[in-house]
Amino acid sequence: MIKLSVTTRDGESSEISVEEGLTLMEAIRDNGFDQLLALCGGCCSCATCHVHVDPAFAEKLRPISDDEDDLLESSDHRDGASRLSCQIRLDASHDGIKVRIAEED
Ligand code: FES
Repeated sequence: MIKLSVTTRDGESSEISVEEGLTLMEAIRDNGFDQLLALCGGCCSCATCHVHVDPAFAEKLRPISDDEDDLLESSDHRDGASRLSCQIRLDASHDGIKVRIAEED
């Protein structure tokens, strides 16, 4: 199990423990955070799983693909820490990662 800290749009942070191998989107959605809509189910076509990831973990994330980059470009709330959470598969190196659910577009 790995631990994640998730901050909602309201600024409330909670810590959750999840199995390795899930995507970050699945980990957040399946732990009751209904602000993360993930409408496309993780096939990188909706951008409703947008999160801001603690820059301290940036090097541990897989690089942004062209498709992810294009979708993030459509968000008014993109910043240097933006990722689509369905494109990040969690492993032990992500233990302690902090994410914030992005503002709604
Ligand atoms: S869930 Fe749709 S792009 Fe991530």
